[in-house]
Amino acid sequence: MRVRLVVAVVAMAALVVWSVLAAPAATPDPRAQALAAFKPLPAVAASPANPITPEKVALGRLLYFEPRVSADGTVSCARCHQPTLYGTDGLAKPIGVHGRENPRNAPTVLNAALQFVEHWRGDRTSVEDQATQALVGPPSFGNANDREAMTRLAAIPEYTRWFARAFPGEADPVTARNWGRAIGAYERTLLTPSPFDAYLGGDEAALSSEAKAGLAAFMQVGCADCHDGVGVGGREFEKFGVAEEYWKATKSAAIDKGRFDVTNRSADLYVFKVPSLRNVAMTPPYFHDGSVATLPEAVRVMARVQLGKALTEAQVTQIVAFLDSLTGTLPADFVTLPVLPAGAFQPAAAP
Ligand code: HEC
Ligand code: HEC
Repeated sequence: MRVRLVVAVVAMAALVVWSVLAAPAATPDPRAQALAAFKPLPAVAASPANPITPEKVALGRLLYFEPRVSADGTVSCARCHQPTLYGTDGLAKPIGVHGRENPRNAPTVLNAALQFVEHWRGDRTSVEDQATQALVGPPSFGNANDREAMTRLAAIPEYTRWFARAFPGEADPVTARNWGRAIGAYERTLLTPSPFDAYLGGDEAALSSEAKAGLAAFMQVGCADCHDGVGVGGREFEKFGVAEEYWKATKSAAIDKGRFDVTNRSADLYVFKVPSLRNVAMTPPYFHDGSVATLPEAVRVMARVQLGKALTEAQVTQIVAFLDSLTGTLPADFVTLPVLPAGAFQPAAAP
C-alpha cells in the first residue's frame, strides 16, 4: 500500500517538473503574436466625417457604376475597379476617358477606405476626396470642372431625387462633394472578410499549415514591419528601395519619384504608401507601375529591395500561401450590377 503511494507521489512530482520544463513559455502562441501585429476586419470602415447611411450607400453604388458622368460617356469607377477582378482592371496602367493612359497602376477599392491616405503617393486624403477629385482627373473622368460633371448627372431626373434622399435638408444636393460622400459611404462598406480574419478570430483550421508557416515567415523576415494593422498595410509611407534601387529589381520602364513629386521634399524621393495586401493574390500586376506580373516575383522583389534578403523558394511559397489567405469574400452588392436610372448621356458642348 505504502509503496504504491510513494510511487504515485513520485510520478506526480515528475509530471509537475516535466510540465514546468515543457511549458509553452519558449514558444509563444502564434495567433497571439499575429494579433499583436494585425487586426481582424471591422464590419464597415466608419468615418465621423462621413457617417454611413443606407441612402448614401444605395446612391453611391449607382454612381460607382455610372458612366454618363464622364466627358465621353464611357468611364465609370467600375471600368478601372471591376468587381470580377477584385476591384482592379488587370492592366499595368488603366485606360481612362478618350483612351488616355493613367500614370500608375489601379489599386483595389476593396478595403481601401481603411487606409490612412489614398493613392500610391498619398495625394488623396480619403476615399471621399479621391472620388471627388476623379471627376476632373484628365485620365479618369476628364470633366473640365465639377459643374460640368454635375450638370450631366442632374440631367438624369432620378438622380436629383436620389441625392435629395441621401442628403436631406440641402437646398441643392447634387454637388461634387456629395458625389464623393455617397461613393465614399459605399466604399466604406466594401470590406472583404478572409480566412486570415477567421484565424485571428480563433478558427485554427482557417489557415493551412503552409499559410501558418508563411505568416510566421512574413513576421520573422520583417514584412510586417511595414505591412501591418487591419489592412496588412495602408498605415504609413516608406521608401521603395531601402536596400537597392527598386527599378533594378522591378525592371520598371520609367522611374517614378513617388511622393517627391507631391511634396518636393528630398526625404520623399521614391517614397510610396505601403499598400494594403488584402486580396493581393487577386490583383496582379504588382507595384505602382504594374511592372511585376506574378505574386511570387513581387514577394522576391520585396525581400530583396526592402529588406536586402534573398528568400528560399520554400519561404516564397509559404508567404504566398499566407497572402492567399487574405483573399476575402466579395460583397454581394458589389458583384451584382445595379440597374441605373434611365436617361441619355449629355455630350460636352463643342470646345
Ligand atoms: C481610368 C481608370 C480609373 C477610374 C475611372 C477610376 N480610378 Fe480609381 N484609381 C485609378 C488609378 C490609376 C489609381 C491610382 C492613382 C495613383 O495612385 O496615382 C486609382 C486609385 C484609387 C483609389 C485609391 C486606392 C489605394 O489603395 O490607394 C481608390 C479608393 C479609387 N481609385 C476609387 C475610385 C473611385 C471610387 C472611382 C470613381 C469615382 C475611381 N476610382 C475611378 C484608376 C481609375
Ligand atoms: C520598408 C517597408 C516594407 C517592407 C519591409 C516590405 N514592404 Fe512590401 N511594400 C512596401 C511599399 C512601399 C510598397 C509599394 C511599392 C511600390 O509599388 O511603389 C510595397 C508593395 C508590396 C507588394 C505589392 C502590392 C501591390 O498591390 O502591388 C507586395 C506583394 C508586398 N509589398 C509584399 C511584401 C512582402 C512579402 C514583404 C516581406 C518579404 C514586404 N512586402 C516587405 C513596403 C515594404
